Amino acid sequence: MLACLPFQNSWSHSTLHTSEVIENVKVAPPGIIVVFGATGDLTARKLMPSIYHLASSGYLSDHTAMVGVSRIKQSHEEFRDAMKLSVNQYSKQNSDIIWPQLEKKLFYNEADLSDDEGYENLKVLLADIDKNMGTQGNRVFYLAIPASYFSVVIEKLSKHGLIYDSGDEKWSRVVIEKPFGRDLASAIELNREVSQCLSEDQIFLMDHYLAKEGVQNLFSFRLENPLFEPLWNHRYIDNIQISLSEDIGIGSRANFWEETGALRDLFQNHLMQLLAIVAMEPPTDLDPQHIHNEKIKVLNSIRPFPVGEIDRYIVRGQYGPGIIKGENVLGYKQEKDVPQDSSAETFVSAKIFIDNDRWMGVPFYIRGGKRLAKQTTEVVVNFKQSNLGSSTNANALFFRIQPNAGIYLKMSAKVPVLDSVGHTQPVVFGYQPDQYFKTNSSDAYEKLLYDAFKGNHHLFVQSDEQLAAWRLLTPVLDQWKLSSGDLEEYESGSWGPSRSDFLLNENGHSWQILGDQ
Ligand code: BG6
Repeated sequence: MLACLPFQNSWSHSTLHTSEVIENVKVAPPGIIVVFGATGDLTARKLMPSIYHLASSGYLSDHTAMVGVSRIKQSHEEFRDAMKLSVNQYSKQNSDIIWPQLEKKLFYNEADLSDDEGYENLKVLLADIDKNMGTQGNRVFYLAIPASYFSVVIEKLSKHGLIYDSGDEKWSRVVIEKPFGRDLASAIELNREVSQCLSEDQIFLMDHYLAKEGVQNLFSFRLENPLFEPLWNHRYIDNIQISLSEDIGIGSRANFWEETGALRDLFQNHLMQLLAIVAMEPPTDLDPQHIHNEKIKVLNSIRPFPVGEIDRYIVRGQYGPGIIKGENVLGYKQEKDVPQDSSAETFVSAKIFIDNDRWMGVPFYIRGGKRLAKQTTEVVVNFKQSNLGSSTNANALFFRIQPNAGIYLKMSAKVPVLDSVGHTQPVVFGYQPDQYFKTNSSDAYEKLLYDAFKGNHHLFVQSDEQLAAWRLLTPVLDQWKLSSGDLEEYESGSWGPSRSDFLLNENGHSWQILGDQ
């Protein structure tokens, strides 16, 4: 039960000045980012390297600091050393560039998340940093911790006066990592608890896929190419496929994976967000609320999986041993700390229908999983074939989200030989933003951290989008709890369980990806 009241609501480049680094860079306002879960994997792999890049590119104010919070006992120096290692290991840049300036702005605060003492110490440390570094009282609290601690930490921050009223001149914002809840009931409860302490404008729910360049390409393509809008419906589109395929396994995350599984880890958030962007009506305005309104409308129009027939629409699998990139790899059950009787799914695929005028009868095939044949995320829009053409020649649009974000159009072309009347074959036209604009896109976490500092909600999710996804998927989780008879083992390096292919075959379709264009 929360104690909160109902809501009434110079680390720029050492040798270059901010303005010299990138023309027109909009420097974020001063503030402190406080990372809960500072000794965890996400901080090392994503958050610290992102802060480093933002700082070295001049996007962060000189008056920015970072405080790591975790229960592990360590000094500021030890924390700085660990962060330097993470920059060296995971960043595109060498840490020498701005490290001497940056490290002076990193601090550590030991805290047991449920214990008041750590928050009191944090409050003193933050006030000190404000005084010495001109961070002006502004805070981004980043919760890179298990979901079961979200409301505890928010309640403690509020109790210790670290969350301000949203009308204050100085601001406090809370970034919450996925998964937001474990199912519909827990997400509703979490939402209730969080909104007792924070107003909407203070909550930043993460789904880092939204900030990927490839996803933003898809979004812009939909909104700014009116040529395609008249075609974007059931009259011209035969089916849409979304694949989030990883060749990596679960690594050392057995405990997380046993608790979470692919439906919660990949499907409820990343894949549902991609679906919403492909299928939503174009918003009348680009402000976050209008975009959100359209996303929520389409998510709420998804047809629930029919009770008693869920297995016909959604398939789960678990990877067995196999070969990836020429190397033998272990099956899920052989991974460290995985119980022999585990029924955690590492793969999910589903057939989804959206009951609105635009998408009447169009199947959306969605899959995501680990230890698959290829590391790629793609959205494929398959158009209906012409009366004369073959299905292999039918037009398709491929949105490759990663790696190498790009957009490709498959057309049918006549083969230029003498006796080739009617002889056509597919050709593909493509575009990759990084090559075309000769620039490297920023990492998703960089964009999201920068936006959190600027108070920009465009790339964040709202809680009712999360609830809509849970509403669809909770009956599946409930059914899966009853029996794991449908869990199929698939070979590592394959495209998942054979039942995932049948899901499409019964409608005369098969999975497609663009491949290496
Ligand atoms: C995370 C999941 O949200 O996304 C991971 O927890 C997954 O299991 C990762 O590997 C994929 O993100 P990216 O950016 O590497 O495609």
